[in-house]
Amino acid sequence: MQKLWGGRFSKQTDTITEDFTASVQFDYRLASYDIQGSIAHTRMLKKCGILTESEESLIVEGLNSIHQDILANNFLFDPKLEDVHMNIEYALIRKIGEVGKKLHTARSRNDQITLDMRLYLLWELKEIITLIRSFQSAILLIAEKNIEAIMPGHTHLQHAEPVLFSHHIMAYFWMFERDMQRFADCLKRINILPLGACALAGTSLPIDREYTASLLDFPGITENSIDTVSDRDYILEFSSVASICMMHLSRLSEEIILWSTHEYRWVDIDESFCTGSSIMPQKKNPDMCELTRGKTGRVYGNLFSLFTIMKSLPLAYNRDMQEDKEPLFDTVDTLKQCLGIYDRLISSLKINTERMRLSLSNDFSWATEMANYLVQKGIPFRDAHHIVGKIVAANRDIMEFTLEELKEFSELFENNIFEVTKPEYGINQKNSAGGTSCKQVKEQIEQARKLVTVHN
Ligand code: ARG
Repeated sequence: MQKLWGGRFSKQTDTITEDFTASVQFDYRLASYDIQGSIAHTRMLKKCGILTESEESLIVEGLNSIHQDILANNFLFDPKLEDVHMNIEYALIRKIGEVGKKLHTARSRNDQITLDMRLYLLWELKEIITLIRSFQSAILLIAEKNIEAIMPGHTHLQHAEPVLFSHHIMAYFWMFERDMQRFADCLKRINILPLGACALAGTSLPIDREYTASLLDFPGITENSIDTVSDRDYILEFSSVASICMMHLSRLSEEIILWSTHEYRWVDIDESFCTGSSIMPQKKNPDMCELTRGKTGRVYGNLFSLFTIMKSLPLAYNRDMQEDKEPLFDTVDTLKQCLGIYDRLISSLKINTERMRLSLSNDFSWATEMANYLVQKGIPFRDAHHIVGKIVAANRDIMEFTLEELKEFSELFENNIFEVTKPEYGINQKNSAGGTSCKQVKEQIEQARKLVTVHN
């Protein structure tokens, strides 16, 4: 087969070279974007007088019909033709003849590939943002449904202070809200037309990049052709944001795994999201959460592959950059899959509010509240901390103390101290903005609701 770039070569390409350089086995996924870009490019060439009207319509028709073939699974991508761009261009020439050879005027694969990647990411980003929104709605629902459930809040994985479960789970809402904003922000830098940078220096032909941009709905064009073909920041940026998002999913996974253990039994994961053991008949394993936690590793790995590929690359385009595709595609696929799973997993998660509440019995998570009680009676906080520390050191359930016994620690204790040490009391006292009182959590849910509905 005569290569589309074969003019200066007199020897056949070795198959080892063909195998090693081919990318079509993974970049075929860009086919629709490649065709979309080529159609816009063709229309621009016609507008600028570089193609005639009949040439334009022949090329556009040819590209559309190739697109149909691809969508109908009726197109054979050939690794001998290296990549998705060459496969489509070759098919076009076969389909419409000589005029097909005009498509690649004022264009290089160097600006073409980054156009395809940008179009691909713009599409996927919109999907990811929708997935996050839907998952956030599931978090909101489970928070609302269990608004008053009480659990021990932890620091250092030790009981710290009682909190509302709704407050705890809403922490994730805000984590994913930040992810959503980061994705929306990186979308702005992706949404710029690179086409027209050509190989690296622009072109001597009279093209109109602004027109191509308008056809493809890009709000602007890149400023520097050299930067345009060598820039993969937007892929790194996307992968960084995706890694942060996976980290959030992984932390949630870890908590759900922990909460579903026999020791906790705070949550019950729906059976449809669990698997059994081939040897232990009783097992119901939280594999979806474990795999999400595990897959976070590969998404970080992809990010580091990308960083390493780009490090030290001289300007402008280098073939190394072909290696950006598999890590990026894998990150997109993994993230979308995990977000979709979590939406459904959270929606069907059962909360055992009694077990959660029970975890607070016999613990000392009332200690800060007791110190605040003494502070309100005029004792400096450090002294109050010390007094309560002594009571904790006695290692007894607070309800077993008599008032007289407590008075030995401080004269200021009165009978209402027993009420003060109840988790419900402590929680509702924490009425500072963003705190765990029911009033504050309801307020937070209301704010969150607005964000989710504004977007939809
Ligand atoms: N397959 C290539 C890539 O993914 C497309 C650009 C190739 N450019 C070139 N000059 N060989 O980066």
